[in-house]
Amino acid sequence: MSQDTTSLKLNKEVEAAEDFLPLLGTDYVELYVGNAKQAAHYYQAAWGFQPIAYSGLETGIKDRVSYVLQQDKIRLVLTSPLQQGGEVNRHIEKHGDGVKVVALWVDNAKQSYLETTKRGAKSYMEPKTIKDDQGEVVLSGIHTYGETIHIFVERSNYKGVFMPGFKPWNPEYKPTEVGLKYIDHMVGNVGWNEMGKWCGFYAKVMGFAQLVSFDDKDISTDYTALMSKVMSNGNGRIKFPINEPAEGKKKSQIEEYIEFYNGAGVQHIALATDNIIETVKALKKRGVEFLHVPESYYDTVLDRVGEIDEKLEPLKELGILIDRDDEGYLLQLFTKPVLDRPTMFFEIIQRKGAKSFGKGNFKALFEAIEREQEMRGTL
Ligand code: FE2
Repeated sequence: MSQDTTSLKLNKEVEAAEDFLPLLGTDYVELYVGNAKQAAHYYQAAWGFQPIAYSGLETGIKDRVSYVLQQDKIRLVLTSPLQQGGEVNRHIEKHGDGVKVVALWVDNAKQSYLETTKRGAKSYMEPKTIKDDQGEVVLSGIHTYGETIHIFVERSNYKGVFMPGFKPWNPEYKPTEVGLKYIDHMVGNVGWNEMGKWCGFYAKVMGFAQLVSFDDKDISTDYTALMSKVMSNGNGRIKFPINEPAEGKKKSQIEEYIEFYNGAGVQHIALATDNIIETVKALKKRGVEFLHVPESYYDTVLDRVGEIDEKLEPLKELGILIDRDDEGYLLQLFTKPVLDRPTMFFEIIQRKGAKSFGKGNFKALFEAIEREQEMRGTL
């Protein structure tokens, strides 16, 4: 064996040894909401999610109801309480509607639990196997920032629609999809001076590395007041940027989030599309509201990002933003908060080579967000 081969093999062994938490992707995102039935209708009608599965009284569950919806690889679970008291009610009272679970798809839920708790993760749920006539699913869970949870889902021995306890949900009403493909990234807002702590958590407990991108800097300016770092797992399928507030002239959107959510939580979910113009057109038609940058943004944007494949006019009409890094460019757009409290929102993103997160748009965006904050009287 030549020396080159040996060192290659060694590197591979080191890599294998380091990736103690191989993640196959995001399995599902579960929101605790006040009225899952109506929220499910919203995600069907406005966002084109397809009905998949249901659990509740009809499936023998007495204390909560859940609807599962899917669009390509994106799976949402919407859960509401059926009785007073309990974990779901308490979560909703404190946070309003919001993300409770970011579930990660793994080959081995027990191993994932052991490896992460061994490194300091706080246990949420010990590994358990649930079964029905379609097979079995193994679940385990750990706490992350705020009251947010990661559930590890092992489903290689399951053939059913979602997991045991759920039945297929197949209503007649099925609005078409809008071209959303997968979750590109999910951003967490954490409290003052907590970004380092939670980036450290993802590094130490989950084996993530800080993604080197030009977003990974202090991005506070007169307008913005936040700091952000992006953590990514080994294969890059899971990307979690973490924001913390920073001192600015005015109250930042991160502070506003923390106040209304009563702590750390998921700020936005970025959904990828292959055709952002068509996707955003469809979403707007169905009533989804987006943030608007001033038209003047488009006067100079091409000087900043250079040549792009798309015509500028439709992008301008829809308010789609453009940014570039060393590897390519990206198109993105952010919704207004989709809940009653000014907390969670969505991003629609189309990547054309770029691996970053749109730092070049932050100033224009923050001005747009501040106009909204002004209207809410929370600046
Ligand atoms: Fe984002």
